[in-house]
Amino acid sequence: MEFSRSRLGAALWAASLLLGLAAAEGCGSSDSSTGSDGGATVAETDAAACPMAALLEQNCQSCHAAKPVAGAPMALVTWNDLMAPAHSDPSRRVYELVKLRVSATTKFMPPVGHLSAAQLAVVDAWMNAGEPNCGFPDKSDGTGSVGTGAASDADGGVSDTAVLEPEACYEVRAHGEQKPNDSTPFSVAAEQYYHAFNFKVPYDKDVKALTFKSLLDNAQVVHHWLLYQTNASTDTDGTHQNSTGTHSNDTLLIGWAPGGAPPSMPPGVGFQMPKPGSMLQLEIHYFNSTGKPQPDRTGLRFCVTSKPTKYTAATTTLGTELLLIPPAQSVKLSGTCHPSYLGGKDKRDIHILYSSPHMHKTGTHMTTVINRVGGGTETLVDQPFAFREQHDYPTPAIVHPGDTLTTTCTFENTSSSYVTYGPLTNNEMCYNFVIAYPADLLANPGGSLQGSDNTCLK
Ligand code: HEC
Repeated sequence: MEFSRSRLGAALWAASLLLGLAAAEGCGSSDSSTGSDGGATVAETDAAACPMAALLEQNCQSCHAAKPVAGAPMALVTWNDLMAPAHSDPSRRVYELVKLRVSATTKFMPPVGHLSAAQLAVVDAWMNAGEPNCGFPDKSDGTGSVGTGAASDADGGVSDTAVLEPEACYEVRAHGEQKPNDSTPFSVAAEQYYHAFNFKVPYDKDVKALTFKSLLDNAQVVHHWLLYQTNASTDTDGTHQNSTGTHSNDTLLIGWAPGGAPPSMPPGVGFQMPKPGSMLQLEIHYFNSTGKPQPDRTGLRFCVTSKPTKYTAATTTLGTELLLIPPAQSVKLSGTCHPSYLGGKDKRDIHILYSSPHMHKTGTHMTTVINRVGGGTETLVDQPFAFREQHDYPTPAIVHPGDTLTTTCTFENTSSSYVTYGPLTNNEMCYNFVIAYPADLLANPGGSLQGSDNTCLK
C-alpha cells in the first residue's frame, strides 16, 4: 500500500515548533503515554510511524473499501473517511465509532473476531495522538475537495460538509515554573483550589479549532479544567496563580470534566479561537485529598486551521446564577435565554451542537428545553447529573428567531445549611455550556460568565 506524505502538513507541523508552546506530537510518537512532557516532538509522516492506516487496510477494507461492500455503510480508507459524520449518528465522527466498535463486546468490528491487544493499542495510540493525518491515502477521486473550495460546490454542495485537515496542533498544560515553555510538573498542594495557568496564544494568525483533546495527567487530584480567554493584564505568558474560580471579564472557550470529552467540530464548522496576541488561561480545579503535594501536567491539545470554515462556533453559557437552596430540600431553579441575535442584527437560525451540564455536589438533574416561538417546547437535554461523572452530550438542534431556551437544574440539599451560587465544590452552579454556531448569536461573544452582557444567563 502506498502512503502519501502530507507535505503541507509536515511543513506546518514543523513551523508550529517555532511557536511559543510545545507543538503536539505527530503520529510518529510510538507511545504518547510515556510522557514526553514538554519535549516538543514533530515526526516526519511515514508509514512505519503511522500504523493506523495499515491496520485499516488489513482488517477493515475488505468490507469498508473506497466503494464499501458486504453491507458496510462507509469507507475506511482516507483520513477524510475517518473524519466524516458517522452513518448511524451524524453528530459523531466515524473515528469515534471506530474506537467504540473495535473494543465493543457485542457487534464488534471486524465481525470475524476481535483485534489483538497489539492492534487495539495501534488504534489507541492514534487516538491519543489526536487522530493525526499521518499517511492515509489521499482521496482517490483527486478532487482535493477539502475545505470550502468553490470547486466542490458543483458536485452536490459537499463544501458544507467537507472536512478541513488541521494545520497544527498545540498543547497547553499545567507546569511548575513561572516561565513560558516550562515542562516541569506543577506541584498540587494538598487542598481544594483553582489554579490558573496563562499562555500567550501559540499561533500568529487567525485560526479556528477543529479538535480538542483533554490530556488528563494526575487523575487523582484533577476535578475539571476550563479554558478561557483572559483579559487581565497581570496574566502573562508562563505565569500561574491560585484563582477564585470566578471570571467576570473572561470568555469561556471549552472545558472538560470526568466522564466528558471536549468535542470535535463537525465538518464545515470551526471553533472560534482568540486572536493572535491574546492570552489563554487554563484553569484547573484541583481536589487533592492525598494529604501531600502531587505532581500534575494536565491540560489539553487542540488542532487548528487558518483556512476559512463555512461556520464558526463558540461556547455560550445557559442557566442561572440566582441560586439559593434551603437546607434539607429539593428544589428546581431555572434560567431562560433570550438569544441576542447580535441585538437583532443577524436573524439566522442557530445550530446547537453540544451541551455540557455543569453543577456541583447537590445537583442531580438538568434539562434545557427550546420554547418555540409558535408554541410548544422541544427538549435539548434531559439528563441526570452526577458530580463525579459529567458528560458532553451531542445535542443537535436548531433555534429559530423568537425561540427561547430554558435551563432547569434540580438540586437536592441534604445538608443543614443553605447552599448558594459560587465556585467552590460546596457552592452550586447551574450551567449548561452549549457549543453553537453561528458564534455570538445566542449571547454576546462567548457569553462571559457573570457578565451582565450574557443574555443567556438570567
Ligand atoms: C466482513 C465485513 C466487515 C469488516 C471486515 C469490517 N466491518 Fe465494520 N461494518 C460492517 C457492516 C456490515 C457494518 C454495518 C452493520 C453494523 O453496524 O454492525 C459495519 C459497521 C461499522 C461501523 C459502524 C458505522 C456506523 O455508522 O454506525 C464501524 C465504526 C465499523 N464498521 C468499523 C470497522 C472497523 C474499524 C473495521 C476493521 C477493524 C471493520 N469495521 C471491519 C462490515 C465489516
